[in-house]
Amino acid sequence: MSEPLVCVSDYERQARRVLPKAVFDYYCSGADEQETLADNTAAYSRWRLLPRVLRDVSRMDLSASVLGQPISMPVCVGATAMQRMAHPEGETATARACRAAGTGMMLSSWATSTIEEVRSSAGEGLLWMQLYIYKDRDLTLSLVRRAEEAGYKAIFVTVDTPYLGKRRDDVRNRFKLPSHLRMSNFASADLAFSSEEGYGEDSGLAVYVSQAIDPTLCWEHIAWLKAHTHLPVVVKGVLSAEDALQAVQFGVDGILVSNHGARQLDGVPATLEVLEEVVAAVAGRCEVYLDGGVRRGTDVLKALALGATAVFLGRPILWGLACQGEQGVTDVLELFRDELHLAMALAGCRSVGEVSRSMVRRAQFSSRM
Ligand SMILES: Cc1cc2nc3c(=O)[nH]c(=O)nc-3n(C[C@H](O)[C@H](O)[C@H](O)COP(=O)(O)O)c2cc1C
Repeated sequence: MSEPLVCVSDYERQARRVLPKAVFDYYCSGADEQETLADNTAAYSRWRLLPRVLRDVSRMDLSASVLGQPISMPVCVGATAMQRMAHPEGETATARACRAAGTGMMLSSWATSTIEEVRSSAGEGLLWMQLYIYKDRDLTLSLVRRAEEAGYKAIFVTVDTPYLGKRRDDVRNRFKLPSHLRMSNFASADLAFSSEEGYGEDSGLAVYVSQAIDPTLCWEHIAWLKAHTHLPVVVKGVLSAEDALQAVQFGVDGILVSNHGARQLDGVPATLEVLEEVVAAVAGRCEVYLDGGVRRGTDVLKALALGATAVFLGRPILWGLACQGEQGVTDVLELFRDELHLAMALAGCRSVGEVSRSMVRRAQFSSRM
């Protein structure tokens, strides 16, 4: 009998065993030297938890909300592209697992399942749409319309990808989708990143982005998007107080502090390191979320203490999906729930509302720094 998988790194190790190399590399990689990739997880070890004791933690409530929508815990599923490379049911399996866990799922524009398929798998579950702004604005708005019609509850517009970051393994592997898959939300082969298209000697995805995604993206496009949808708009990819203030001025409904899982500009700070200054700049005018390197319940607790409303998981969900499809995603989500439950109880917090800034302090010394 194989050993049980008891933490996210166990799932990652197992996923590496079962996935084709080019797929694992695409999921795993960060940009360039991967300095930020290492830092995204290491940053959590630079903060220490300060528990309170004697607080009767026999009853716990992990519930939270995102943009007024209730979730069973402040741990949500972020957008990761092309999930059918991990498992034949891809995004539809993830959607079912999220619904069962009572949490929300952000669907990538680059999903290998359609917006509508994911809605029917999720049932009444909470879904959000991640949006890339394409050079073709009508096409961009058609994704928004479809998400609105399918009852998605917000648009998370990704603002850190005018070009694709350089992920060296994808260049080495000449990364492209396996021939039986396509980005399902697009009709034409070129926009669907179909393997019928030639992508030359580079990462196919980098070529795709340079052909299709609009590098002129600027703040006016946020105003444009807001004018064209009744859904809340969240900007995904803010890392500075200055940009957070701009976002507030442009009337966004939320900010996702993200460095795209360290896959875009290498050398930027770990998201946990900039969270507090973004939260301070926003001063309660919209919700602030975080993603990047969240691997343990204590990571979630630290992000909440530094002001995040909720966190989003990227790779851990792909590892669960690769290991065991829907059940694997369920197991990873329940692992986070159990770990967060225990971390909160041991820290003396009975609810998310009781998590406060005074519960974390900078470590004096960290072996992982
Ligand atoms: C394989 C992979 C694919 C991703 N695809 C997208 C995407 O399509 N759109 C997007 O906005 N972000 C995408 N991201 C970034 C994630 O939404 C998220 O910011 C990041 O994965 C969080 O970091 P973590 O993987 O360390 O949890 C992707 C990340 C990974 C690892």
